[in-house]
Amino acid sequence: MMQNDTEKIIDEKVQGTALSLENNSKNTRKLYIESYGCQMNFSDSEIVASILAKEGFNTTQKLEEADLVLVNTCSIREKAEQTVRKRLEKYNAVKRTNPGMKVGVLGCMAERLKSKFLEEEKMVDMVVGPDAYKDLPNLIKEIDEGRNAVNVILSKDETYGDVAPVRLNSNGVSAFVSITRGCDNMCTFCVVPFTRGRERSRDPQSIIDEVNDLWDRGFKEITLLGQNVDSYLWYGGGLKKDFDKATDMQKATSVNFAKLLELVALAQPKMRIRFSTSNPQDMTLDVIDTMAKFDNICKYIHLPVQSGSDRILKEMNRLHTRQEYFTLIDNIKARIPDCAISQDMITGFPTETEEDHQDTLSLMEYVKYDFGFMFAYSERPGTLAARKLEDDVPEAIKKRRLTEIINLQQEHALYRTQQHVGKTEEVLIEGTSKKSDAHWMGRNSQNTVVVFPKEDYKVGQFVNVKINDCTSATLIGEAVSLSKNN
Ligand code: SAH
Ligand code: F3S
Repeated sequence: MMQNDTEKIIDEKVQGTALSLENNSKNTRKLYIESYGCQMNFSDSEIVASILAKEGFNTTQKLEEADLVLVNTCSIREKAEQTVRKRLEKYNAVKRTNPGMKVGVLGCMAERLKSKFLEEEKMVDMVVGPDAYKDLPNLIKEIDEGRNAVNVILSKDETYGDVAPVRLNSNGVSAFVSITRGCDNMCTFCVVPFTRGRERSRDPQSIIDEVNDLWDRGFKEITLLGQNVDSYLWYGGGLKKDFDKATDMQKATSVNFAKLLELVALAQPKMRIRFSTSNPQDMTLDVIDTMAKFDNICKYIHLPVQSGSDRILKEMNRLHTRQEYFTLIDNIKARIPDCAISQDMITGFPTETEEDHQDTLSLMEYVKYDFGFMFAYSERPGTLAARKLEDDVPEAIKKRRLTEIINLQQEHALYRTQQHVGKTEEVLIEGTSKKSDAHWMGRNSQNTVVVFPKEDYKVGQFVNVKINDCTSATLIGEAVSLSKNN
């Protein structure tokens, strides 16, 4: 999840991004691919572009000239789905002037709605779920021959570990590396276990190969991605839930997330390593100790809690209590005092009372998160919450509670950024500041955005920056020297 994105904090709008890559001159067909939702979707689109590059497709950022339009979709909240439907209307309008153009829906909405999509949305030619991208060459043949094509089969072993993603619209500095797919947690509000299937981990060797390759190509930072990274477990392949059936040998040589972090940190000691997302119940002290041990593992944990009320946590099937969460926070801060922590919160989960809401506010007071991503509850068809609980908190109350937690988060974010003022911190330059051409934008280890005058520094360099000022979202500073880590 993009950290520190005030736009996202204030408005849960899902943004789409059209992607393009360096093209192969032999390719003749044009692919326009747009992604919505989580980082995993953006990462998956890079896998899709890689698969289609071998099928003769170059990417374009001009919708009007596309032969194939793909939209990688998100189902997490109703609003996310509405955004995609609006885009489909737009594609359809373009299709009227360009009848040869084909439209495909990828990702979580494809999985959730399956072939209903073809009936509902007359202009969709192809529906492809998150585990079926390797079938794209066949599916495209089908639609080329005038038939609709659907593949939404969820897989037990697909991890795309053997597909080298093309890096779309990359800043050339930071990249995502997927390490697990699916989720076994079954939080009662969440559609992800239905759209992305059971949890599988990717072979650590293929992860390290990808990281090494990224380093060789000049990348300086990676984010290991998964719905629940701390649950990573490699024992030679297979679902996480089948680990019990593994042989003694497989168990003895298995690799958990702490071990994977160490392997990656050692493989590229100068590469900055981040990861997302951590689930409180699955985060072990070993992971925290590994973070503390390696300088190149960034001191930032995205640790969604969703609610501060024990009763609501239980209704959500979040498998920890408020007190256990506090203990985890205390352990993190004891081992890594400067570690930044961020949250996801949901307001207005069914049956949430004013008292439950106060528990959320008091939990936030305890932790004082550096960042946060906050949402009003959106009922998702098929989830346990939708089947068992009435969506009974009125919209106006959900919104009021959401505003209260957003305001409190803003206060805490400012409190946290102020702690950096006066310090000199290592910043990795990602590009020009959005607000000023004369300034670089980068991040410190805690993932806070830092802007400073460009001078002679360059994108991709680690620079020591003295922090002079801040807002609740940004640190403002001046470069002191090039870091020895370059
Ligand atoms: N483990 C995942 C979570 C994906 S969903 C990860 O990698 O981050 C991201 C966030 O969306 C969740 O943490 C939750 O706060 C929010 N969310 C999920 N389902 C929701 C729903 N039905 N209504 C509102 N917010 C929801
Ligand atoms: Fe969703 Fe809970 Fe998994 S929020 S992605 S079911 S950890």
